[in-house]
Amino acid sequence: MRCFYADGVNTELPSLAVTGSTGELGSRVARRLAASDVAQRLLVRDASRAPALDGAVPVTFENYDDHDSVVEALRGVTTLFMVSAAENADRLGQHYAFVDAAAEAGVRHVVYTSFSGAAEDATFTLGRHHYFTEERIKQSGMDWTFLRDNLYLDFFPHLVGEDGVIRGPAGDGVVAAVTRDDIAAAAAEVLSKPGAHVGSTYVMTGPEALTMAEVADTLTRLQGRPVSFHNETVEEAYESRKKWDVPDWQYDAWVSTYTAIAAGEMAEVTDHVLRLTGRRPMSLADLLQRGLD
Ligand SMILES: NC(=O)c1ccc[n+]([C@@H]2O[C@H](COP(=O)([O-])OP(=O)(O)OC[C@H]3O[C@@H](n4cnc5c(N)ncnc54)[C@H](OP(=O)(O)O)[C@@H]3O)[C@@H](O)[C@H]2O)c1
Repeated sequence: MRCFYADGVNTELPSLAVTGSTGELGSRVARRLAASDVAQRLLVRDASRAPALDGAVPVTFENYDDHDSVVEALRGVTTLFMVSAAENADRLGQHYAFVDAAAEAGVRHVVYTSFSGAAEDATFTLGRHHYFTEERIKQSGMDWTFLRDNLYLDFFPHLVGEDGVIRGPAGDGVVAAVTRDDIAAAAAEVLSKPGAHVGSTYVMTGPEALTMAEVADTLTRLQGRPVSFHNETVEEAYESRKKWDVPDWQYDAWVSTYTAIAAGEMAEVTDHVLRLTGRRPMSLADLLQRGLD
C-alpha cells in the first residue's frame, strides 16, 4: 500500500488503528481483521516486529505516554483499538496520556480492552486502573466501547508450580476465564462495524465459571499429571511469592487476582462472546483438548 503525506498527515493510511499487534491479543485481532479484508494501521513501537498482514500498515510511536509520537501516529484515525499497557508502576499515567493524545489527534471512537469487574474499589488492584481508564475515555468526548475481559484462560496451565500445585487465596470462589482467541474474535467483530457498538460494554467470559479446585481437576484430567489447589491465606500468598523480587504493587496484583476470585468479582458468565461472534467461547477443557498455542 502506498502512502502519501500532505501537511504532515498521511491521508492514505487506514483510519482504523490497532495497538498491541506485537503481542498476544493484538496480533490475534490484527490477523482476524486482515483475514476479513479490513485495512488497519498497526501502531507499534518497533516496525520490524509488526506482523506482516495484507492491508496492514505499521506506524511507529515511542510509547503510550509519548505525546508527540502518539498524536502523529493517530492523525487521520477514526477508530482506535487500545490494548491496555503492560503492567508497570505508571500504567495508569500511560493510559491517561494515550487517551488524551488520541482525543487531540481527532480519534472519534476508542475500543478499549478493560477488565471484568473493573471498579474504583475492585479487589483486583489492576481492575482499578481499568475503571479509571474507562472513565478517562468517557470524559474525553470520544465514543467508546469497552471489552471487559476476564482472566485469560490461556494462563491457567502456567499457574501450576513445579510441584503440581496452584497456590492462592481464592477459596471456593469461581472464575469465568476466557481465551485470548475468543476476545480477539469479539474485538474484530466490534472493529469491523464500530458504529454498531458505540456506548456498549461487553463482558468477555468463557462458557462457565470454575473454582480453582475444578481448574486443577481439569488440568489433571487433560494434561496427564496430577495438579491440586492449595487455598493459601493472604499472608501465605505474599510469603510464597517472595521468591520473586518484584515491587510491592506487583505482589498486590498477583495476590489480589486470587482474593478477587474469592470475593466473587470474576464469577460473572455472560453470552457476550457468543452474541458478538456467533460462536460459543472455549472452556478450559476445550482449550486443553485443542492444544495451547
Ligand atoms: N485478562 C488477563 O488475564 C490479562 C493478563 C495479563 C495482561 N493483561 C492485559 O492485556 C494486555 C494484552 O495482553 P497480551 O497477552 O496481548 O499482552 P502482550 O503479549 O504482552 O502484548 C502487549 C502489547 O501491548 C504493547 N504495549 C504494552 N505496553 C505498552 C506501552 N506502554 N506503550 C505501547 N505499547 C505497549 C506491547 O508492545 P511491545 O511488543 O512493543 O512491548 C504488545 O504489543 C496486556 O498488555 C495487559 O494490560 C490481561
